[in-house]
Amino acid sequence: MAKRESIEKQSWKPGNVLSPAPPVLVSCGGTQGWKPNLITIAWAGNVCSDPPMLSISVRPERYSFEIIRTTREFVVNVPSLKQARAVDWCGMVSGRSEDKFAGAGLTPASALKVRPPIVLECPLNIECRVKESLELGSHTMFVAEVVAVQVSSDLVDGKGRLRLEKCGLLAFAHGEYFVLGRRIGRFGFSVRKRSR
Ligand SMILES: Cc1cc2nc3c(=O)[nH]c(=O)nc-3n(C[C@H](O)[C@H](O)[C@H](O)COP(=O)(O)O)c2cc1C
Repeated sequence: MAKRESIEKQSWKPGNVLSPAPPVLVSCGGTQGWKPNLITIAWAGNVCSDPPMLSISVRPERYSFEIIRTTREFVVNVPSLKQARAVDWCGMVSGRSEDKFAGAGLTPASALKVRPPIVLECPLNIECRVKESLELGSHTMFVAEVVAVQVSSDLVDGKGRLRLEKCGLLAFAHGEYFVLGRRIGRFGFSVRKRSR
């Protein structure tokens, strides 16, 4: 183990430094009088395997906040490099004044189980129903159950495996976007016997 003195550390003030985060396009609306809208979210993550659940954290001042709070449904659309510009743009403008699907050149398509549309171009669409909301401070966390998943067929290989690495997944870290690169191992590689 490296000695404490051999690696120099600085003390920083507490903040949201956990990185990378997945920048996702969350679609909402399309029901109860709300037009379909998109919001870029970086504070998102898996929170439970069974039942499958994830969370997104949204500031109450966002237009999307009221939509999700009242309709209790949304879709997490995982973008690829091809949607990088749309991801940034949907996080810069509000649905109060823009039709973001049209403005970003994205196609709304039917979800399987929820009323908001999926983003057709995104390789992975995760349909969610809100179970709980937690007012944490600046953000409210919506904890939601995953009720359906759609994947783009061209990313599924002959063995039925999803090859998301083929599409250029995005990562968001400290205000900057990155595209995921080299695969360095499979789950459990550290304990698996090396093949000759
Ligand atoms: C990369 C990126 C990540 C973002 N992450 C979040 C987030 O996790 N929560 C949030 O409330 N806003 C986040 N935003 C800001 C919203 O996407 C932005 O305010 C958007 O314009 C809100 O749209 P709306 O008013 O149509 O809901 C993010 C923006 C960007 C560019």
